[in-house]
Amino acid sequence: FFWDYALILIAYMLGSFPAGYVYTKISTGKDIRNFGSGNIGSTNVKRIAGSKISIYTQITDMAKGLLPVLFVLLIQEYQLLSISQLLIYFVALATILGHNFSFALKFKGGKGVNTTLGASVLIAPISVFISVAIYFIVKKGFKFVSLGSMAIAICLPLSAYFLGRDQHTILYLLACSLFIFVRHTANIKRLFKGTELR
Ligand code: G3P
Repeated sequence: FFWDYALILIAYMLGSFPAGYVYTKISTGKDIRNFGSGNIGSTNVKRIAGSKISIYTQITDMAKGLLPVLFVLLIQEYQLLSISQLLIYFVALATILGHNFSFALKFKGGKGVNTTLGASVLIAPISVFISVAIYFIVKKGFKFVSLGSMAIAICLPLSAYFLGRDQHTILYLLACSLFIFVRHTANIKRLFKGTELR
């Protein structure tokens, strides 16, 4: 089990890198947590530091999800280490939780949408593709990124279920979905109050 725990820890540490916070600080000098929605994700970075820094943030946050999962897949493929079959799901969740509860930000963090997409794209590519397509439709229709994010949260496990995916993948995506909804509590309240940011 040594490598299982070691890889989960490494994934958590990687996920903890608060790209949006660091890039905004470097480019504008501002602590993003005190501006806009206060979130460190690419949506809020776009409000505070502009499109270019937002795209860097989005790419980094997605890569934080993708890289550890890819690493575990390669280890499994070439049987480099003795690791558990289910490790891929735990590594994916660890990097998402690292982003959401970053040790670098005293266990506060983002909402995990980009990191979830990056972590899931090799595990459930068709579900990720469908969810992103639905995201763009919802965002275009309602003009709120948060609604699009929650549409992703619903679509990921639901599409995997209808695609006949195995129960581990569906459970993993349900956990991702739950994390996204929990992290969007403030957005849901703002949507009901009519004060949600564009
Ligand atoms: O992924 C985050 C997005 O859904 C909402 O971001 O800054 O509007 O809370 P924000």
